[in-house]
Amino acid sequence: MDIKSLVDPEGGLINRRIFADPEIYALERERVFARCWLYLGHESEVPNPGDFVTAYMGEEPVILWRDLNGRIGAYLNLCRHRGNRVCRADRGNARILTCSYHGWSYTSDGKLALVPMIDAFRELEREKWGLIPVAQVDSYKGLIFGTFDPEAPSLTEYLGDMAWYLDILLDRREGGTEVSGPHRWVLDANWKTAAENFGGDGYHIFSTHGSARELGIDTTTNQTRQWNQGCQIACGNGHILVSWITPPDGGPWFAQPDDELVRYMKEHAAEIESRLGTMRARKISPSAGTVFPNFSIHWLTRTIRVWHPRGPDKMEIWSWAVVDKAAPQAIKEKMRFVSQYRFSPSGVFEQDDMDNWAQVTGAAKSLIGRSYPANYQMSGNEPPIALDLPGRTMSRFSDNNQLNLYMHWAKVLEAKNWDEIKSAAS
Ligand code: FES
Ligand SMILES: [Fe+2]
Repeated sequence: MDIKSLVDPEGGLINRRIFADPEIYALERERVFARCWLYLGHESEVPNPGDFVTAYMGEEPVILWRDLNGRIGAYLNLCRHRGNRVCRADRGNARILTCSYHGWSYTSDGKLALVPMIDAFRELEREKWGLIPVAQVDSYKGLIFGTFDPEAPSLTEYLGDMAWYLDILLDRREGGTEVSGPHRWVLDANWKTAAENFGGDGYHIFSTHGSARELGIDTTTNQTRQWNQGCQIACGNGHILVSWITPPDGGPWFAQPDDELVRYMKEHAAEIESRLGTMRARKISPSAGTVFPNFSIHWLTRTIRVWHPRGPDKMEIWSWAVVDKAAPQAIKEKMRFVSQYRFSPSGVFEQDDMDNWAQVTGAAKSLIGRSYPANYQMSGNEPPIALDLPGRTMSRFSDNNQLNLYMHWAKVLEAKNWDEIKSAAS
């Protein structure tokens, strides 16, 4: 399959096949989801030895489990005997998980501990039948990621410049963040429709979310209407975000979606600036972004989410609210409220977005429509950004970020291994 021919960055054209084709999806499972670093969960979800949550890496079910020595590991949620799921719970605390089929039991470090009627087996070498580990697991300021590929670069290298922007959500206050959730729901849309939207689609806000603006229920607009400057930023490795450039008297309270949160940010502005520096505390304010392939962040409304693929034309969305650990309880509640009010199954923005993504996916299945490419020709007409920021800054209302995502996607899909991904020109 000629993947590169599906993405035409010079012409600004994307072949709609990429949003619904089963063959492309099969390749994505293998080359994107079995190779890239994927979000597994937050350290605050597994604070104690024995704590676990179940998650997915692509379509693979996994257990994220802190062992009795405090080390976090991740394992395929699959009993080595016949393949039954070892863990059926969403979360919990266990020294041992026992498979419900024949009772094989595994310890929190993934080892096979107990096999009923082991004497009836001919020389069962228990040490060879532990849970299948996720090859690499690491965390960045509370966010735990894993990759099935032992050859993948380190998480730090993988995140690259994107980590500098993630800090603006994760490292404002001493103690970092904690999460609540996830909300989980299924949508008839390809996962990439959401990944590209969160990665920089400032263009859709006026029409898609116009009703929230008209009704006055989106308070972020009060500030951004008067001051409306920003940029797209491509960080490399397919990671992309869109950010406001804040006004000269701006600060971490800029565009906060609630008056109480504006007050909270003003109260802690000095601490935030001492942790993040002036550029990240006062000059920029990221809105939304995507860590390639399927982890997205909305800084202002404090949501993080995974677009789990569930086939070429379906995804399961998992969405968490992120709050500062050091914040007073009432502020945490407010942060969770603003997160869910805007982005959750019933969120005022989420509902607007979801319907569009399902329609875009539907177009990729249209007998006639799928032979016409999708348009990504918006190149922007704003003056260049004067700030010296990590990554490549581009016009806010453009398709540069989206094309960047798809060029990287094509590169990952074509490459046979990580060496080829790294050596291919971006
Ligand atoms: S499938 Fe798990 S014990 Fe048999
Ligand atoms: Fe949106």
